Amino acid sequence: MAKKYRILVVDDEESITFLLRTELEELPDFDVDVALNGTEAINHIQSNLYDVALLDIKMPRVSGIDVLKFINEHSPTTQVIMLTNIVDYKTAIETIKLGAYDFISKPYDPGELIATVRRAVERRQLVIDKEVMQRELNRISGPSGLVGESAGFKASVENARRVATSEAFILIQGASGTGKELIAHLIHNESPRRDQPFVAVNCASIPDQLLESELFGHEKGAFTNAYSTKQGLVEVANGGTLFLDEVGDISQPTQAKLLRFLETGEFRRVGGTTAMRVDVRVISATNKHLQREVQEGRFREDLFYRLNVVSIQLPLLRERKEDIPLLVDYFLKRKSKANAKKLSPEALEVLMRYDWPGNVRELEHVIEGGIVLCQGDVIEPRDLWMNPALSTDILSGPPGRAPVNDDGILSLEELEKIHIEKALKFNHWNRVKTAQMLGITPKTLYLKIKRYCIKVSSASD
Ligand SMILES: Nc1ncnc2c1ncn2[C@@H]1O[C@H](COP(=O)(O)OP(=O)(O)OP(=O)(O)O)[C@@H](O)[C@H]1O
Ligand SMILES: [Mg+2]
Repeated sequence: MAKKYRILVVDDEESITFLLRTELEELPDFDVDVALNGTEAINHIQSNLYDVALLDIKMPRVSGIDVLKFINEHSPTTQVIMLTNIVDYKTAIETIKLGAYDFISKPYDPGELIATVRRAVERRQLVIDKEVMQRELNRISGPSGLVGESAGFKASVENARRVATSEAFILIQGASGTGKELIAHLIHNESPRRDQPFVAVNCASIPDQLLESELFGHEKGAFTNAYSTKQGLVEVANGGTLFLDEVGDISQPTQAKLLRFLETGEFRRVGGTTAMRVDVRVISATNKHLQREVQEGRFREDLFYRLNVVSIQLPLLRERKEDIPLLVDYFLKRKSKANAKKLSPEALEVLMRYDWPGNVRELEHVIEGGIVLCQGDVIEPRDLWMNPALSTDILSGPPGRAPVNDDGILSLEELEKIHIEKALKFNHWNRVKTAQMLGITPKTLYLKIKRYCIKVSSASD
């Protein structure tokens, strides 16, 4: 038997509810309940789960808008269609802003009514699918979006959780793509400052001359182009968390200014004379070995100790390969548009053998690429765009890979050829994009394609 959709019709005019019920129940898949006022409607909603509710806007005492608000709060997947007597578009549009799915003006056209109800039913299905998907993703990752069950990774996350509630400054260390920024968010979200701003500053991407004024702001006229006074990010973060990303890249003069600020909580805007004070908790991150930077004189020791009250080290992905299947599952679900694609066992094997110099970010990109490149629903080894040289057991040759020489080692040329083919495939044979990705000119790419006799399926430069 086909599924019956439950519809609630609410109108204080009995003739209307009668007509609506009759028209809808003529169709085999609709089951209709009727309420003649808002209170009755709310009673129905408390004890039943409706797919769609049709609500008259104007009803004495409890109006259709009140019922809509009740539904939003207590039965958010129920789709609401408002019924309006006069063609009062203004109120109707207001109800859409409040979350109604659509509205129909009375007298209504039965065909239009049925079509709208059907669309609402379909839309509810989408909402539910999304919710189920979200629950599923949260189940794998937890609400923080951090996936991983390996002992090393879990220890780092537990460490972060433990210190989150304190006010201590935290230094997160780990190679590129290991999840430092995610951990910083986790710490902020689990700290007492969670309702205050989280302000991230990528110290490596801001030119050094600008970093000081980004951090501490500047007064009008402090330098050329300083046309107006600007607040610094430390002010924006006041009360919350300041995340200094890539802190190991700060120049010596700015390190000195940052240290002064961290020691006293005071700063001056560039070109300013008054000392200002803010209250921020600092989390910093770096993919450099900061202790070594200190030993080699590139990073101030006093600043290192100031930032590094608590330190969290994130493991490399190759040190926690048992998390790869979980992460793959997570990215497949998150990145696929409609149906989640799958990974063949051979493809998973290739991923397990790889060395992952770019860590989780690289895995995320490889899965993204696999979803785009794969022809059916299953991602195969040929759809994975990685550097084959970094496969840990290259001697036996991973499935679908290029031939190896007699001594079992690929020549550099062979490697380059494979790499170029992968890049071309990834960019859908667009040579300009591929050249950009590989950091060479299109002409060089052209010459290499000729030299290695790479078959280009369709050129689109
Ligand atoms: N444990 C994880 N679970 C799920 N996704 C992760 C995990 N770790 C990292 N990612 C994803 O990998 C990407 C890189 O993570 P993130 O930006 O936190 O790394 P990072 O250490 O700050 O890298 P970089 O040093 O390059 O700035 C992000 O898209 C992030 O969502
Ligand atoms: Mg980062």
